[in-house]
Amino acid sequence: MSKTLQAIRGMNDILPGQTPVWRYLETSFARLLDQYGYSEIRLPILEFTELFARGIGEGTDVVDKEMYSFLDRNQESLTLRPEGTAGCVRAVLEHGLTGGGQVQKLWYAGPMFRYEKPQKGRYRQFHQMGVEVFNQPGPDIDAELIILTARLWKALGVSEAVSLQLNSLGSSEARARYRDALVAYLQQHFDQLDEDSQRRLTSNPLRILDSKNAQTQSLLVEAPTLFEYLDEESKAHFEGLKARLDAVGIAYEINPKLVRGLDYYGRTVFEWVTDKLGAQGTVCAGGRYDGLITQFGGKPTPGVGFAMGVERLVLLLETLDCVPKSLTPAPHAYLCAFGEPAEQAALKLAEELRNSLPNVRLLVNLGGGSFKSQFKKADKSGANYALILGEDELAKQVIGLKPLRNDEPQQLVAWADLAQQMADYLN
Ligand code: HAM
Repeated sequence: MSKTLQAIRGMNDILPGQTPVWRYLETSFARLLDQYGYSEIRLPILEFTELFARGIGEGTDVVDKEMYSFLDRNQESLTLRPEGTAGCVRAVLEHGLTGGGQVQKLWYAGPMFRYEKPQKGRYRQFHQMGVEVFNQPGPDIDAELIILTARLWKALGVSEAVSLQLNSLGSSEARARYRDALVAYLQQHFDQLDEDSQRRLTSNPLRILDSKNAQTQSLLVEAPTLFEYLDEESKAHFEGLKARLDAVGIAYEINPKLVRGLDYYGRTVFEWVTDKLGAQGTVCAGGRYDGLITQFGGKPTPGVGFAMGVERLVLLLETLDCVPKSLTPAPHAYLCAFGEPAEQAALKLAEELRNSLPNVRLLVNLGGGSFKSQFKKADKSGANYALILGEDELAKQVIGLKPLRNDEPQQLVAWADLAQQMADYLN
């Protein structure tokens, strides 16, 4: 017997029972960004591998271990996008959208791919909703991004379950000085570091701050902190951001160990985290990447953004019982027809009803069946009314209208009056 085909590990089907909450999140996000004047951008899922290697950085876990890369038929190395920022920067540069200092406030949503160890909240195909803003150098935009995400948490009813972690990574020079100091300190304790951190000491030492290893963490208590190395401009930028968050009343915690796993960040970095999802508790993360555009060959252009993980938000909504109950409203009516001539007339009537009442949710019985079986299906559909068209009704150009959720009797309605009558029942 042939083996049953299965989806790839870590790549999930999103089944009809789950799509309403996905749609709810996606439409809430799109509506929010409309309110703040952001425009949508749609980007390819495949890009040249070099884009991510240069953008996210060799030495990061994403580039070194997690990319889905392959040679196409033309022997070019392509990669399924592991995130959205690099592709967005490529697109704005390619189309000259940031030329002459033009401000761009963009959002996107879609699947991303990383070869990670699948577990709750961490998948190999996952979905992000993200924002990228170009040519806004000040802390005001950093604040706006955080403020608008806070508004989303409120709209979704999850504010109490998420908290904001904030840090500044300073300028690249400040970071380089700090990196040297950190490496010098950790080298003295090399033997006590966990294996991953020993490897990172040469490839990406700042990531050691993120280590979950208890012994490494205890070594870090005495380590120099990034704050001590921050340049004056970055300090002022960070103070400006904090002052704005204070003014709006958004609470945050400064986390000097928050360094993020992608190389392009400088100055502001932030994460919204929750303790409701176990180990994968970051639901939204981002920061400033003023150096990335020049790295791609563009003129110096400030950039800042974030992305949120849709799977994690779905899990959070479910865990907190915050999924609205009304996401899949029942049909208003279910149309039953008996016999070929009535079935044909039913299709035509249904279309006329949909023309007159664009918001009507109307199901037409398919596949024929006895009165009993069609009625059973009508009931199961959750519809409030059954519309009944048999030979007699057809001859008289009327239709039976039977309430299914109360004891009121069936009435006969002339076809010409049906839309008017149904209009009263729409909600
Ligand atoms: P990131 O931290 O790699 O940042 O991902 C952002 C969010 O995507 C995470 O906080 C998490 O919610 C979700 N996420 C990441 N990996 C997975 C996974 N394997 N399974 C499920 N969810 C995941 C970025 O991607 C940056 N591009 C964000 C950004 C935009 N920074 C500036 N602009």
